[in-house]
Amino acid sequence: MDKFVFDDSLRLGITLIDEQHGRFIGYINDTWDALERGDSKEEFLHILNQLMDYVVEHFSDEEALMKEFDYPGLAEHRDKHSDTTDELFGFDMKLMGDDPEAARSFLNFLTDWLRNHINVVDRELAAYLKEKGCS
Ligand SMILES: [Fe+2]
Ligand SMILES: [Fe+2]
Repeated sequence: MDKFVFDDSLRLGITLIDEQHGRFIGYINDTWDALERGDSKEEFLHILNQLMDYVVEHFSDEEALMKEFDYPGLAEHRDKHSDTTDELFGFDMKLMGDDPEAARSFLNFLTDWLRNHINVVDRELAAYLKEKGCS
């Protein structure tokens, strides 16, 4: 898979969300890099853990923003985050440290999911926030 580039088509116009998506994609790319470099299992799992921590942090910050602005789609959006968290943590992390193919399918899954989530679900949220004067 090609590097996940955070280009303008993924910018939603809400500073906090855009900054976090940029970091999120950065962590995904760091994980790809670790895989391509053939980092040791320990190093790879350390980088993967940073990515997973950031997934949780980003979801929770986005949900706080939804709450702050009384977003009517909060419950639905939060369910999507929580289903995805379950799915991501359902992957066998230890196996990924041993088997690059397992790591690749995880990263491909996360990349496809994030691209689609930003373009559809987060975009809807951003449109609402802009209407409420958030930028
Ligand atoms: Fe997001
Ligand atoms: Fe989201």
